[in-house]
Amino acid sequence: MSRNEVKLEDIVSLAIRRGFVFPTGRIYGGLAGFFDYGPLGAEMRQEVINDWWRFFVRRREDVVGIHGCIITHPRVWEASGHVESFFDFLVVCQNCGAEFRADHLLEDAGIEVHEFTAEALEKAIRERGVKCPKCGGKLSKPVPFNLMFVTQVGPKETRASRAYLRPETAQLIFVDFKDVVTSARLKLPFGIAQVGRAFRNEISPRNFTFRAREFEMMEIEYFVNPAKLYDCPLWDSVASLKVNMLSAEMQEEGVEEYREISLAEAWETGLIKNKWHAYWIGESFKWLWGIGLRRERLRIREHLKTELAHYAVQTFDVEYFFPFMGWKEIVGIANRGDYDLRRHMEFSGKDLTIIDDGEKVVPHVIEPSFGVDRVMLALLTDAYGRIEDRIVLSLSPKVAPIKVAVFPLVTKEPFISKAREVYNMLKEEFAAFYDERGSIGRRYARVDEAGVPLAVTIDGITLEDNTVTIRFRDTRKQIRAPISELKDRIKEIISNWDA
Ligand code: GAP
Repeated sequence: MSRNEVKLEDIVSLAIRRGFVFPTGRIYGGLAGFFDYGPLGAEMRQEVINDWWRFFVRRREDVVGIHGCIITHPRVWEASGHVESFFDFLVVCQNCGAEFRADHLLEDAGIEVHEFTAEALEKAIRERGVKCPKCGGKLSKPVPFNLMFVTQVGPKETRASRAYLRPETAQLIFVDFKDVVTSARLKLPFGIAQVGRAFRNEISPRNFTFRAREFEMMEIEYFVNPAKLYDCPLWDSVASLKVNMLSAEMQEEGVEEYREISLAEAWETGLIKNKWHAYWIGESFKWLWGIGLRRERLRIREHLKTELAHYAVQTFDVEYFFPFMGWKEIVGIANRGDYDLRRHMEFSGKDLTIIDDGEKVVPHVIEPSFGVDRVMLALLTDAYGRIEDRIVLSLSPKVAPIKVAVFPLVTKEPFISKAREVYNMLKEEFAAFYDERGSIGRRYARVDEAGVPLAVTIDGITLEDNTVTIRFRDTRKQIRAPISELKDRIKEIISNWDA
């Protein structure tokens, strides 16, 4: 099987069998839209988040991080517009009571949706004669359904005790804006980043972790003086990057194939309106390429006017091509203008302006917003393949949950003691794994399937000259290296790995 034929069932089966991801509460039949990460998944998730934080926060001088609350002051979501505008359209079967998200129902019936209003969705359902896919019954009119989970703060259940689980991490950044700016002495332009849980009561969670009700986001709000939107000192680091672009205009003309375009061209021709927006698209691609996602499976798609979120001036989604569901968003990169800061000033009555060049300004915001779970699903899909009869998960060492496995060739002394000695040395430096059960072939197969890039084997020659074999997962090639140099050799191999 080639890596292009992978099915969702393959990924789900591997994820559960090898302990990447499990539907939560499986012994009670699961809870739709909620997932737990198992031992390999928890490690891999941590690697993805750590690499993101390193790339977008630690190595930069202009971005700092925060860690905000999940349950936030209820006024936050009134100001942000989520109470009023954060909904999808629900249709209910009048015969069997099944509930569907209207646009998904149409999509599944092969009907393209470009306008997400109740009227447009109802018209499409009526004109195309769409019925309940479960029983063929008549469908209700689409009604808006707010996606925020409601909870109660304190013992009394009143309107005033109502609070929401955050549907995005972004708002905490706007709400904490003044405190962060003051405490970290930030000067424009700068970014504030956050990684954390988000909750959306999705009408139809589906495609495994792709559309979940609880998920993890990695977001940056990057603040720029509105008078200096064209002044991007970091531009040269991205200008010549080429991305696979599907603009709104191309979609309106019915063009389905993306076109390769440099970010310089995209900005100079006015396709991307804000230079900082183009810059952050470039940075986002650099990170996604760097963790090993194949370039031809990534494209950038501009939102049509009719699909823009209530806060957005212009939005581009980074989409990944999942062979089992087509192009789907894994990252959203929005130009939010000054919508959020202005709304919070209005609702809180507090001054959230900032002084830049002696003038008071309300900064404009570019927001790269990554979903950890979707990035993970893309990584697993991208890496999944078969070599002969085996499943091999060709993950980049950057995100692989285990970097190196250690095996004694034969399960007896002194091979075992020597192998344990090597394992004890390596696990101080790398996520390492030791195994002595089963034939060496089966042990290699098990770690190939878990995405372990390297396997070190202690054999007869080791006992004579203190060298071991290092086996490469994807080529199965083996090289010999002295144990004394092993740590450095592994570091070198990992850092030169071709993403
Ligand atoms: N603050 C901007 C924002 O929330 P979004 O496009 O709604 O934008 C950003 O979400 C990212 O969060 C998406 O690109 C996706 O990766 C992830 N995401 C959104 N909804 C999700 C869901 N139901 N399940 C898993 N990931 C989701």
